[in-house]
Amino acid sequence: MRARRAVLYMPGDDERKIRKATTLDADCVCLDMEDGVALSRKDEARGLIPEMLRELDFGRSERLARINPVGSGMEADDLRAALEGRPDGIVIPKVETGDAIRWASAQIGERERAMGWPHGGICIIVLVETALGIVNLKEIAGSDPRLQALIFGAEDLAGDIGAVRTREAWEVFYARSAVVTHAAAFDLQAIDMVYIDYKDGEGMVREAQEAARMGYAGKQVIHPNQIAPAQEAFTPDDAAIAHALRVMNAMREHQAAGKGAFSLDGKMIDMPLVKAAERVLARARAAGRVD
Ligand code: COA
Ligand code: MG
Repeated sequence: MRARRAVLYMPGDDERKIRKATTLDADCVCLDMEDGVALSRKDEARGLIPEMLRELDFGRSERLARINPVGSGMEADDLRAALEGRPDGIVIPKVETGDAIRWASAQIGERERAMGWPHGGICIIVLVETALGIVNLKEIAGSDPRLQALIFGAEDLAGDIGAVRTREAWEVFYARSAVVTHAAAFDLQAIDMVYIDYKDGEGMVREAQEAARMGYAGKQVIHPNQIAPAQEAFTPDDAAIAHALRVMNAMREHQAAGKGAFSLDGKMIDMPLVKAAERVLARARAAGRVD
């Protein structure tokens, strides 16, 4: 799976920011039609996004477009507009059912057929950020083969459950943990919440490192100065990669000798730790750090 260590949002009606995004080297850029765009500006975003997607070269960045929620009444126009730009993926916010994803997937499939694009080439990524969405995670995560990642939205969730957001984020911890667990169970990536205080670089890095330790593969970001620190936080460091490689090598030797559990540096290693090492290496590979 591709690296999605930083997913940078920008309002889809803001040409200056969209052009800027082509120079920022983010793993993913997400041209927004939802909360980042005023109600009176949705049509501007629907016109500008396909134009920008066709015209600009975003380099190695994955090109995503976020539509309004399925059921908002805006989703069909948004999706039609986004697909005119042939994005790499569609982001759907406030998802609460598998039906919402299957609806979008069917629309995308029709467009792929009509245009002669490869079937399944355009992926879906969803935000789970309401109480009902969290309760329905299992159904959401298993809903459609186009689905590649689950994004956790803390601000909307806090609003929905009546929680007050704090720096420690314990008020959303159950949901944050549930999203990453369901993602792993269904072989999807998990992408962490936004750190809205974008001038507090230290706080953002602390939260990103915490997310990485929880198993998250990346983080949503809203400002250029959050991209590099987020991508760094979700890239295994040299020591972690070296340790993972030693675990894998030692495991192969001990398996050949008929031993399951063994000792490395005075610590017990068995299958769960080997799996953790495999995950570190998969992430390092996606980030281009190992072959
Ligand atoms: N994407 C691309 N470029 C961005 C950007 C973003 N998300 N945020 C800021 N920039 C650009 C600015 O245009 C500016 O470029 P310039 O010097 O060429 O004009 C530069 O980065 C520095 O920006 P800065 O002045 O520090 O921020 P700002 O006051 O222009 O904007 C925000 C602050 C929060 C409004 C802006 O970062 C933003 O719009 N973020 C995304 C919001 C969003 O999409 N929310 C919905 C999803 S949660
Ligand atoms: Mg939101």
